[in-house]
Amino acid sequence: MNRIHIVSNRLPVSINVENDNIELIPSVGGLATGMRSVYKEYNGKWIGWPGLPSDELGDNLKTDIEEKLVEEDCVSVHLSKEEIDLYYDGFSNRTIWPLFHYFAQYIDYEPQLWDAFVKVNQKFADKALETIEEGDTIWIHDYQLLLVPEMIKSKKPGVTVGFFLHIPFPSFEVFRILPWRKELIQGMLGADLIGFHTFDYQRHFFSCVRRLMGYEISFNEIHIEDRIILVDSFPMGIDYDKFRDAATQTFQKPLQEKSKLHRELEKYFLVSPNRKLILSIDRLDYSKGIPNRLQAFAKFLEEYPEFIGKVTLIMLAVPSRGTVEHYINLKREVEELVGNVNGRFGSINYTPVWYFYRSMPFESLIELYSSCDVALVTPVRDGMNLVAKEYVASRTNRTGVIILSEMAGVSKEMGEALMINPNNTGEIAQSIYQALTMPLDEQRERMIYLQDRIKRYDVFKWSSEFVKSLRKVEKLQNSIYAKKVSSSILEKIKTEYAGTQKRSIFLDYDGTLTGFKKNPNDAKPDEELHKILYKLEEDPKNVITVISGRDRESLESWLEGHKINLIVEHGVWIKKYGKDWKMLANANDTWKPSIRPILETFVDRTPGSFIEEKNYSLVWHFRKAEPEQGELRANELKDELTTMIANHNLEILEGNKVIEVKSGGINKGMASLQFLQNQNFDFILAIGDDWTDEYMFRELPESSVTIKVGLKHTAARYKVDSVAKVRNLLSELN
Ligand code: ADP
Ligand code: G6P
Repeated sequence: MNRIHIVSNRLPVSINVENDNIELIPSVGGLATGMRSVYKEYNGKWIGWPGLPSDELGDNLKTDIEEKLVEEDCVSVHLSKEEIDLYYDGFSNRTIWPLFHYFAQYIDYEPQLWDAFVKVNQKFADKALETIEEGDTIWIHDYQLLLVPEMIKSKKPGVTVGFFLHIPFPSFEVFRILPWRKELIQGMLGADLIGFHTFDYQRHFFSCVRRLMGYEISFNEIHIEDRIILVDSFPMGIDYDKFRDAATQTFQKPLQEKSKLHRELEKYFLVSPNRKLILSIDRLDYSKGIPNRLQAFAKFLEEYPEFIGKVTLIMLAVPSRGTVEHYINLKREVEELVGNVNGRFGSINYTPVWYFYRSMPFESLIELYSSCDVALVTPVRDGMNLVAKEYVASRTNRTGVIILSEMAGVSKEMGEALMINPNNTGEIAQSIYQALTMPLDEQRERMIYLQDRIKRYDVFKWSSEFVKSLRKVEKLQNSIYAKKVSSSILEKIKTEYAGTQKRSIFLDYDGTLTGFKKNPNDAKPDEELHKILYKLEEDPKNVITVISGRDRESLESWLEGHKINLIVEHGVWIKKYGKDWKMLANANDTWKPSIRPILETFVDRTPGSFIEEKNYSLVWHFRKAEPEQGELRANELKDELTTMIANHNLEILEGNKVIEVKSGGINKGMASLQFLQNQNFDFILAIGDDWTDEYMFRELPESSVTIKVGLKHTAARYKVDSVAKVRNLLSELN
């Protein structure tokens, strides 16, 4: 199997050095805990930062660290104090983190931080490039490394690159605030597959890609020149069995093997078995809504004083990003609030909040998960939140209630939890009461569903789904390349061309011979195109036809002087070289008065769009409209028109940023076939870029050389990726 290397800012283990002794400690945070369980399956390396400044380490120590990490299949990217300050604390955690979690007021916009971010991303990319061997795959993780996908792709286009974002992706209105917004999107688009926790984040990302970059998106594919990028949501799971098994063992431990914490917990219940525990576990981060939680707990005790002395909130906060200002302030605020609640409601025998500001070993986490009646998970914004899933997995007796913020990605999978808005302390207080008084039967009923779902979609399933999609996108890319006109295919076409005596060449105009212009009237042929056409026409064996959706006037005037036939309005009219216009099909325009008003309402509602009137069709253009609104309205318009067209024998054609309504039965397939009738061409070439050209590709004889411009699925035999390539191909024919 091909190796998959992981690249993330933090390695799954962090290094602690004391008196030259190297200690490996498990890193906390969802990314590290989740991926730790799966990465060994892929036989690759995990490339990342070992968690301490490299300038404090002597060379010998650095080598020792490298050796220790090799045993864990890890490769280190060393960061200096300054890099940590500017890239990690700086752009990652003072710019991107607050931006992506909707804390706009906390964002730092310093260009110096951005510069360091680019530099350090390059450092990670270089280390990854050093590690990759032929056939390997790279899976990059999270917001600290948004530029790495592009940095790898641009150096090694053949390597398959996956990217997964572990935090929310914000809406366009928020994302656009950032001065380096385009660069970040560009960086991510170096990946072949981009994964998010939820469909909402995916939707926001698409909206940014559309609005900032103008790339075409079809379903969950982004089309960029010669690449397709797949984007999907993969809600991250946990190592379910590990938590369940550990919880089962906790209850079976003999007294002497129980931890101090466990014995304390048992003592707590000894005083009165009816006592209850509420659990709160997070990194100390302002996105986690810890102050709201404390305020809600205080409100609960205030409103339900009968619970004073009977309920304790165990609050675990892991130190995190402790040198960043807003984290320092948060720590102070939380400590004050804990003191406040304990001062107000506590007594000699009762401490309402047990607050721990430290990391805990896995066993203690399990003891807490399995002993607490309620889990209070109230982030104001959270990409996923694995703590909620870990609590569910550890409830071996199937009791327990989760109070869950609707702002956490995990809420999408946990409909059975008590859902709250984290800014509504009254609602949280109410839910605490509901949770503490919930009958056991109801708790079990809810927990059974939650456990089933979380067990089924665990972290192994999550990663295997991601990898499956990576393989799918590889196949997709290969199929594009298979149809692409390579130099050998070009040679084949040239040889066939050279050996023939009577050739029909059908050429679409916009998007094929020339690129799209904002204003359709600006698409006159340039010098280069004139030259290419003149050269083709010179050969008496060639019969050239420009076949287009345009009206008669523009093409006739633009191509004046060329020895070329014109078929326009998708086949309504034909003008053979030197002859007059003739109608090819029986079209009528009596339907126009009923359709025009519909199009006009869309023009009114969509700034930048306009109507073009042709003899037998009406076209709504939205290229100049704001892209997302244009696409949205186009879908609405198609919907509305569908009910109208059947009555009038009309057809809707969807071109590139246009919707065209025209008489039915007329299309480029019918027109090209009619043109070929009773003539003995021994070579047929047809080139076109959009949907309307597909009729031609399908109808023409199988032996024809049909070529699609662009990467979409097509009935054509071959593809080229740009107008420049079309021109190049035509110039090569002689
Ligand atoms: P985030 O990734 O934002 O930190 P998650 O809830 O997704 O949030 O993941 C947090 C991870 O860190 C969980 O796997 C959890 O078990 C672990 N964790 C949280 N608090 C502690 C703690 N005090 N000690 C040890 N591990 C912790
Ligand atoms: C979140 C992020 C991770 C990060 C973790 C811990 O889970 O998504 O990328 O590793 O928090 O934060 P830290 O800054 O300590 O790495």
